[in-house]
Amino acid sequence: PTQLAARAAYLLRGNDLGTMTSAAPRLYPHMWSWDAAFVAVGLAPLSVERAVVELDTLLSAQWKNGMIPHIVFANGVDGYFPGPARWETATLAAHAPNGPQTSGITQPPVHAIAVQRILDHSRRHGRTTRAVAEEFLDRRWPDLVRWHRWLAHARDLDGNGRIALFHGWESGMDNSPRWDLAYANVVTGTMPKYLREDLTVVADTSQRPSNGEYDRYLWLLEEMKSVRYDDEELATAMSFAVEDVFVSAVFSMACEVLATIGEEHSMPNSDVRELHGWAGRFRQGVLTTTDERSGAARDFDLRSGKWISTETLAMFSPLLCGGLSRDAERALLRTFEGPKFCGHPDLRYAVPPSTSPVSRDFRSREYWRGPVWPVMTWLFSWAFARRGWAERSHMLRSEGLRQASDGSFAEYYEPFTGEPLGSMQQSWTAAAVLDWLG
Ligand code: DGY
Repeated sequence: PTQLAARAAYLLRGNDLGTMTSAAPRLYPHMWSWDAAFVAVGLAPLSVERAVVELDTLLSAQWKNGMIPHIVFANGVDGYFPGPARWETATLAAHAPNGPQTSGITQPPVHAIAVQRILDHSRRHGRTTRAVAEEFLDRRWPDLVRWHRWLAHARDLDGNGRIALFHGWESGMDNSPRWDLAYANVVTGTMPKYLREDLTVVADTSQRPSNGEYDRYLWLLEEMKSVRYDDEELATAMSFAVEDVFVSAVFSMACEVLATIGEEHSMPNSDVRELHGWAGRFRQGVLTTTDERSGAARDFDLRSGKWISTETLAMFSPLLCGGLSRDAERALLRTFEGPKFCGHPDLRYAVPPSTSPVSRDFRSREYWRGPVWPVMTWLFSWAFARRGWAERSHMLRSEGLRQASDGSFAEYYEPFTGEPLGSMQQSWTAAAVLDWLG
């Protein structure tokens, strides 16, 4: 284990560009929003100071409306598409930051978790390190609250407690079967030509989204640009619009975490009250989507007006934020641990695949259509500990560590063979390991 931790630390140092850690050396050579949060979780046990720098870099690129953009581009780094020239946020978006170049969409709000881990680790150190963490919190508290307020307002226009997304990339689960219905209704128009850089890094195209999927991903950028990334106009202009139950559950959880931090550090009462309010509203929003018996949660396609039931990680969203009846929660845990997910007899490790192996939609090697993502194992393990399920949390941790002991720190893994897939040396996979071993 100490050797694995040393390798993970070495990996993060190798991906360190100075004030940001690239999400992965070649496939993702910039800073990604939720990757950066998980990276900060992994950096915290190594250096609280460096973890703070990571979040500072991300927050320095926060938009003026409060949005944390999904990519912060590293200066002078090429090799990723779509880059700044395709997004054109600096010239089109009224709210884009002055300075850093960013994409024009957002990603799941896991950042409060990183802030909490930074504060936790800082307590193990002397005065100077504690002061760094606390100074960071004081300085960035208003930005963190602004971020959450933007999500609660700009992305929950009707106030039903569910976060709306206008691009599958915003979910972080780009090509999950969750979005097949919504993408089926995206009709691409004429747009500038492009070349997929990702396929020059991952040569086996079956591990990445298809060309048909990519055309739609890029078309949605054109739609966003046509309304200059204006929050209100997006809500009507976008041909892809979904309510993401997983992001909503993560948001509820993050609001609760931030509220607790705020209480412990005497932040303004009004902020703390607002955060508790959002935590409750979004928990309720998640619960409204669930099946009474099974407890399984659903996404909602705003364009077709249809519920989206899939056998993917999204169905377990209520396990993250809580609130189900006792029976429904038991049933949902049984599904999580049973033969449809972690307990499937052919799995190499007892960790949840992104899509159930018994689902029609399952593809064992194809990005979010089946493979195991170690960072998701980490997130469930962390959330289960928070829910008071120490044994379940511990189980995911030890299985996740067994998987990571191959030392590839892959982005995702084939669930049955354990073959590492996608990018190797993915920063957040190393971060998960460091937190588990820290
Ligand atoms: C990619 O480029 O595949 C990313 O997931 C988009 O954010």
